[in-house]
Amino acid sequence: MAFKQSPHMNPGEGEASYARNSAVQKTVQESMKTLIEEAVTGLFTTRNSYLVKNMVIADLGCSSGPNALTLVSAAIDAIHHHCVQQAKLPPKISVFLNDLPNTDFNTVAKSLATLKHSHEDFSYPIVITGIIPGSFYERLFACGSLHLVCSSNSIQWLSKAPDYLKESKTPMYDSDESLRLSRRQTVRDAYAQQFREDFTLFLNLRAQEMVSRGRMVVSLYVRCSDKPDFEFTQPWIPVMVALSDMALRDMINKEKFDSFHLPLYCPLDHEVNKIIEDEGSFEINRTLMHDPYGVMDKALINPRMMALWTRAAFEPLIVQHFGSSKEFMDEFMRTLELHLTSWGMEAVLSSEYPLAFMCLSLIRATY
Ligand SMILES: C[S@@+](CC[C@H](N)C(=O)[O-])C[C@H]1O[C@@H](n2cnc3c(N)ncnc32)[C@H](O)[C@@H]1O
Repeated sequence: MAFKQSPHMNPGEGEASYARNSAVQKTVQESMKTLIEEAVTGLFTTRNSYLVKNMVIADLGCSSGPNALTLVSAAIDAIHHHCVQQAKLPPKISVFLNDLPNTDFNTVAKSLATLKHSHEDFSYPIVITGIIPGSFYERLFACGSLHLVCSSNSIQWLSKAPDYLKESKTPMYDSDESLRLSRRQTVRDAYAQQFREDFTLFLNLRAQEMVSRGRMVVSLYVRCSDKPDFEFTQPWIPVMVALSDMALRDMINKEKFDSFHLPLYCPLDHEVNKIIEDEGSFEINRTLMHDPYGVMDKALINPRMMALWTRAAFEPLIVQHFGSSKEFMDEFMRTLELHLTSWGMEAVLSSEYPLAFMCLSLIRATY
């Protein structure tokens, strides 16, 4: 059986953990709260009486740390608020958190237990909780069982890197610039195709698991422009630049470097819309574009901080491929920091930076 990459985030609460390096993703979740509130109101106004008694909510790709419960907590608060305003009895709520099996579920389990008991006020809904380990590219829930699905900053992670690139031994990032430029379109097309297959599958599986007129609020990393001359067209480029530098200094075997393909792709926003339209199970209710650096104090972001954010997200995949030691990862960090410093934070974070988060509110079409 082929080795399967697991793109989970760094566990624990140490300096390079996802728990301590997810401030950017947190800003996206804040933007999604409005969409979640609207989705909850929408669910209550749908003329389905079963909604009043039970509501099942799932967050897919929850990870660990302070972001794991943000979306489901926003949904519970929105349900509570709606019921108080409408003088309705709150429904019983089941909350399920999903991520890949290698995720650090220890802290997630403790936070879920706290969430369950945090609203002892009688007007708050009764909350039942659970963890669902597994890939969201597989069936996770029973047919027609979910009312609200949330997912933040996760579905740009693919089920796998494109087979074509692995089989044809095409590196995702060539150290040689002219080779890299000549293969750029091939790499891009292979990733775009893999994203199309994965996102279509994701929509199809969720459509089976959701009730008719159920709601889905998701965000993903996208490109706002397809400028061919721009270096940072994918978030994995700084990772590959640092690893390529290490390969050129013989710290990594060249063949090993060339066979490293990350399962990550940021589509253009119109690619996302087209796939939703082609798959056909969901209507797009609303879309928001979120520039995380527009709401953060850019002056406080330095190369070390960015290198830590990157390490928190990519270390598990790097270790799985290179079998890296702590020294290797520290050198990776140092190299990445040097490149970020030489590019300049202003350039990396400028409004020209064509990566942003797309937040979508979707409605499950009637069966
Ligand atoms: C950048 S983190 C986002 C975590 C959190 N939702 C947030 O907004 O901070 C992406 C998460 O997606 C998860 N993920 C990636 N592929 C997945 C898959 N196929 N099934 C379930 N989770 C997946 C990763 O393990 C990781 O925890």
